[in-house]
Amino acid sequence: MLNEPSVIAINLHKNTVVAVGKAAKRMVGRTPPHIATIRPLKDGVIADLDAAERMLRLFIQKAHPSRFLAKPRIVVAVPSGTTSIEQRAVKEAAYEAGARRVHIIEEPMAAAIGAGLKVGEATGNMVVDIGGGTTEVAIVSMSGVVVAKSVRVGGDELDEAIVTHIKKEHALLLGERTAERLKIDLGMVRAAVPEADPVGRHRAGLTVPAQDGLLGPDGDEPAEPAPAPRGWNPFRSRPKPESPAPAAAPRSLDPKTSAPVRGRDLVSGLPKTATISAEQISEAIEDQVQAIIDAVQTTLDQCPAELAGDLLDNGIVLTGGGALLRGLPERMGEATGMPIRLVDKPLYSVALGAGRCVERFQAMRDVLLPDWSRR
Ligand SMILES: Nc1ncnc2c1ncn2[C@@H]1O[C@H](COP(=O)(O)OP(=O)(O)OP(=O)(O)O)[C@@H](O)[C@H]1O
Ligand SMILES: [Mg+2]
Repeated sequence: MLNEPSVIAINLHKNTVVAVGKAAKRMVGRTPPHIATIRPLKDGVIADLDAAERMLRLFIQKAHPSRFLAKPRIVVAVPSGTTSIEQRAVKEAAYEAGARRVHIIEEPMAAAIGAGLKVGEATGNMVVDIGGGTTEVAIVSMSGVVVAKSVRVGGDELDEAIVTHIKKEHALLLGERTAERLKIDLGMVRAAVPEADPVGRHRAGLTVPAQDGLLGPDGDEPAEPAPAPRGWNPFRSRPKPESPAPAAAPRSLDPKTSAPVRGRDLVSGLPKTATISAEQISEAIEDQVQAIIDAVQTTLDQCPAELAGDLLDNGIVLTGGGALLRGLPERMGEATGMPIRLVDKPLYSVALGAGRCVERFQAMRDVLLPDWSRR
């Protein structure tokens, strides 16, 4: 399997490709003016058709190194709610890049399949895929997406929020990649305790007790990082007596609480190092995290009654790289009163799901979007 970031670096003088994927991503923010790093699939839709074609062509060659001329069947995952015109553009790019047949699947459906959910059954499952550009929230049942919401808040926006915050607090300008590193190394989602009701709250028909000791009464200093158990995380107000409590295995044994970063001092204009704390990162990303939680709650509100019961049993499945943010599964469980499951390899769910559709094409046809524009 090929898993590469959708970035291409192009030399504008010679109109040649300098790098694609991981190599191109490393160049972001480091190029001279004549080399452009382009994300042709910004926010999941095609922003630059020519660059998208060239990137796909190189990815196809990478995936089929021995069969250079092979014309593969391609399944492309797009955000739910992508218009038919946008879908057409995606298909055109993939055909131009050398595909024999192109099929489209909605990202949350691909994520659900990649997470191993039985999407064909008449039971509701909720998937929240927190990617770089978008967060996709969807309820799937019987091979289809029943309710979906796609918001343009994802990991990239968290990075931007970190840049903005550090600029304000430290007069220090960070690069995009540096902000992403900070997010991954220090990022930590706060356990929210509403100020008006510090003892508990009522959401989704369940009373949710506040997590003691996570936040001070003023909601500023976190005393201890929340333990981050993996796998099913039965919410504390709905214990499952038959299953043993998950061992409190923190995702990272020794989460860093601060880290030095380098950027450009906005006052002197010179390179400068500053120490950034985990708490600063939590503060920086809070609004975006809340926007993700809000999208989940809005979707839950739109859930048909019959499926709501299924969701309580099946819980919410978290996929996408953003799901790896420490404390996010716990926060979502707290906010929704639902059991949350973080999948094993969240960065791969969509690719795994789309891959399954290629491998088992006939069996999986139902989950693909109908093809109105046969070539
Ligand atoms: N350990 C981590 N903690 C927090 N965020 C992470 C971690 N690892 C990766 N990410 C973030 O996950 C995002 C990438 O996730 P993913 O690969 O699922 O997105 P994508 O599929 O490329 O984007 P989209 O679905 O929006 O098209 C990036 O923003 C990255 O910074
Ligand atoms: Mg994705």
